[in-house]
Amino acid sequence: MSEHIRAVALGEAPADILIKNGKVVNVLTGEIYFANVAIADDKIAGVGDYQVGKKVIDATGKYVLPGFINTHCHVESSMATPDSYCAEELRWGVTTLITDPHEIANVAGVEGIKFMLAATRDLPINYYVQAPSCVPATPFEHAGCVLDAKAMTELVDLEGVLGLGEMMNVPGVLNGVPDVLDKLELFKNKILDGHAPLLGGKALQAYASHGIETDHECISWEEAKEKLRAGIAVLVREGSASRNLNAIIQGAVAEGIDTRRMAFCTDDKHLADIRREGTIRYCVRQAIDLGLEPVKAIQMATINAAQIFGLRKLGAIAPGWKADVLVVDNLFNLRAEHVFYKGEDIQEKLANTSRIIAEANLSGSVHVAPLSEAAFDPAQFAEDKVYPVIEILSGQIVTERGSIQGKDVVRSLKEGKLCMIAVIERHHATGNIGIGLLRGYGLKNGAAATTVAHDSHNLIVAGTNATDMFVAAQELIRVQGGYTLAKDGAVVDTLPLPICGLMSDANADELIVRLDEISAKAWEMGVPRDIDAYITLSFMALPVIPKLRVTDMGVFDAEKFEFV
Ligand SMILES: [Fe+2]
Repeated sequence: MSEHIRAVALGEAPADILIKNGKVVNVLTGEIYFANVAIADDKIAGVGDYQVGKKVIDATGKYVLPGFINTHCHVESSMATPDSYCAEELRWGVTTLITDPHEIANVAGVEGIKFMLAATRDLPINYYVQAPSCVPATPFEHAGCVLDAKAMTELVDLEGVLGLGEMMNVPGVLNGVPDVLDKLELFKNKILDGHAPLLGGKALQAYASHGIETDHECISWEEAKEKLRAGIAVLVREGSASRNLNAIIQGAVAEGIDTRRMAFCTDDKHLADIRREGTIRYCVRQAIDLGLEPVKAIQMATINAAQIFGLRKLGAIAPGWKADVLVVDNLFNLRAEHVFYKGEDIQEKLANTSRIIAEANLSGSVHVAPLSEAAFDPAQFAEDKVYPVIEILSGQIVTERGSIQGKDVVRSLKEGKLCMIAVIERHHATGNIGIGLLRGYGLKNGAAATTVAHDSHNLIVAGTNATDMFVAAQELIRVQGGYTLAKDGAVVDTLPLPICGLMSDANADELIVRLDEISAKAWEMGVPRDIDAYITLSFMALPVIPKLRVTDMGVFDAEKFEFV
């Protein structure tokens, strides 16, 4: 306790920052009342009748609340660097981020995780990491790194690491697979994040009995309630693609259940969507719209999240607590007019923070064995055979399984009714290439390629002919990762993502524009408007989602869990 904070609390010294005349949302008592908030150093010194401050913020007609906490997100999926991503979150009042650097870990392992922490260390945000538990996600693909329990030992005590990230290997937990149990044991004194879609009954009890404390996969109120009853905190997810808030909050409101063990998260939310509406601010607004008491919605966004993750003195406005404080216009818009992090105005702090740039090895992550155009020759599909076809379903990441006669492949490619899809191993130049057929992607003539490819982030290229596929793959090797389009043997457009082949070093404004531009060009080349050309492609190599996928090891049946 510093002398200064005590003097301010006693009213004997001016506050460093005084927020006057606002209505304070007290998430500890569930009340909202008029009070002045005195900040000294990085703490709240007192809440009450304080009148003197070196800097005074007039909050007349406004609300004063704790900074928001996003309890589960993947920063790399925004394709922005951590500093650009954090600036977007801060703009809307998120002062604490709990991240799972699962994407960069699949490319660069522990070194990638350390980069995410280093790049955010000086930013005005509490940036925490949940150590990725499933790298690689499955044994049916090759990632850049393998994080087994032994490799994760050095993460346990790393500053900023709160616990273990989403444990997706539910069968591994339930069957007592040694490496999975070792990871749970390694992090047993920290927070274990779950990932157990639709898990219920005794299997859920067994999963929870391993100490797993959170889940962000609930899609219905019934599912959420069962998990809450089992002691698992529900992180209500509202991202760009996965939107679970309505169902869960409606149920919670209808039943009037205790919301103490509920918080909000985004999982994956696009940068442009964050820029437009924020993340947790949007969740709070939606929840209030659905009839949740404003104080309860704000508790979910602040103190509940802090308590679920064991973050002390964070998430409330009271003496001695961290001065992460928002002044918002009203409880309808929840637009943050002032954001303070540890007692500092984040705008001033951001202006004075220099960027931490990725090490050269993270910028040179694409290592592909010598490639030839022949690898994409449609003649490899024998005329007398029948081949499985991955069929894209609009608006969904699950795919359908179709088929085609080998003799029809070349004609269908020429007519723009079919694409070839190749997944090229790009981490260790092993020369592995899985190749399959794709319907519904829409390209009429040309190829699209990306090094963002869940979860192993190999190089995916889809196209109607060998030349354009070869050109697109070569282009991504040249720029060391990104998105590209090729047509008639030439590159149409490229968005480089040089950091691990996942993130752009451009600023957020530029990145949002470039993402729109290259998607629009893909639409012009035939990709249907209701499909996001690159996000759709990036899920084609994820072998855990039905029905058919392709990895660097071949075409994979995700229902039977075997290669075709
Ligand atoms: Fe996630």
